[in-house]
Amino acid sequence: MVYRVAVVGGSGYTGGELLRLLAGHPSVRVVAVTSERSAGRRVEEVFPNLRGSVELLYEPLDPERIAKAADLVFLALPHKEAMDAAAAFHARGKKVVDLSADFRLRDPRVYEEWYETPHRHVDLLKQAVYGLPEIHRRAIRSAALVGNPGCYPTAALLGLLPLLKHRVADPQSLIVDAKSGVTGAGRGLALPYHFPEAHDGVAAYKVGGHRHLPEMVQEIEALTGTRVNLTFTPHLVPMDRGILATIYAALTRPCTTAELADLARETYAGEPFVQVLPPGELPNVKHLRGTNLCRIGLHAEQRTHRAIVVAAIDNLVKGAAGQAIQNMNLMLGLEETTGLLAPGFFP
Ligand SMILES: NC(=O)c1ccc[n+]([C@@H]2O[C@H](COP(=O)([O-])OP(=O)(O)OC[C@H]3O[C@@H](n4cnc5c(N)ncnc54)[C@H](OP(=O)(O)O)[C@@H]3O)[C@@H](O)[C@H]2O)c1
Repeated sequence: MVYRVAVVGGSGYTGGELLRLLAGHPSVRVVAVTSERSAGRRVEEVFPNLRGSVELLYEPLDPERIAKAADLVFLALPHKEAMDAAAAFHARGKKVVDLSADFRLRDPRVYEEWYETPHRHVDLLKQAVYGLPEIHRRAIRSAALVGNPGCYPTAALLGLLPLLKHRVADPQSLIVDAKSGVTGAGRGLALPYHFPEAHDGVAAYKVGGHRHLPEMVQEIEALTGTRVNLTFTPHLVPMDRGILATIYAALTRPCTTAELADLARETYAGEPFVQVLPPGELPNVKHLRGTNLCRIGLHAEQRTHRAIVVAAIDNLVKGAAGQAIQNMNLMLGLEETTGLLAPGFFP
């Protein structure tokens, strides 16, 4: 059986990556792709890399029409724009994977605090499942609406999960220091992302107040059952894609690097998209470009009694479009890895 899917917001970076990956998926066909500003144009005009692979025209977002054509809809829209579209498709019985932040936070008050607008679909928010398969696989399989995680939280949570699950990290002591490539900011134009501004420099931003913090806290508190004390500092680095998260946590008991690696290997045994590196090895985002992988290296620092975990992903794939397809596979009852196993490109 071939399922029909639509990509809403298909002219942005994550939408383009969805189209690229779905073009090689054997069990789905993209039947509609939307853009307001590029309506009427061919996909290949907006994404020349897709010439010969995707033969579709952009159309404006019309939930009525798209719901008739598609079984499942990906929303690659900005937050605040996605929630009404999700509600419109959900009301028409369609499964939805939302790549925005609109359905990631369970508590509408937390959403309002961080996104500075009341959530307009609180009932739907309650039904949404946080789409990190390594934690919520079973719930995702039966979900009608998945809130696909942010790119920073994907790297941070996958890096932290083995330590938290085995209770070797003190949840009161967590620091996530993370670097993102420029595509993490989306395709829209803004001064900090112009070539002379972003190239050949590195800067922290949103220190103490990035919007990905509350979803990390939500998931860690659910895992540990305790309040968490987490500092998260994001950085913009001059590369196209990739997230590298360096995570620090106080150890709750003496541990060696080899023990930490064993705990991580046990946590991720059978996981198709998480690779734990041998002791002494650390990941590089460059080796993961285009893949749905998260690669993790761990170190136990004896001098400070801290664990240091380095987690790397491609922000557009495991941090967005690839993870969304992984969720789609689960929701449609397909093999979870379908369409996602091609190796990345290097260098
Ligand atoms: N970039 C990443 O690494 C990343 C990772 C994880 C999650 N996300 C999230 O995924 C979503 C998409 O991100 P992106 O980086 O792909 O963004 P983007 O490059 O800025 O693309 C945004 C898309 O939304 C459409 N759009 C914008 N405003 C709209 C409106 N009012 N009505 C209908 N369509 C509208 C745009 O179409 P037009 O052609 O009409 O402008 C475009 O297709 C965001 O919520 C983002 O936070 C991004």
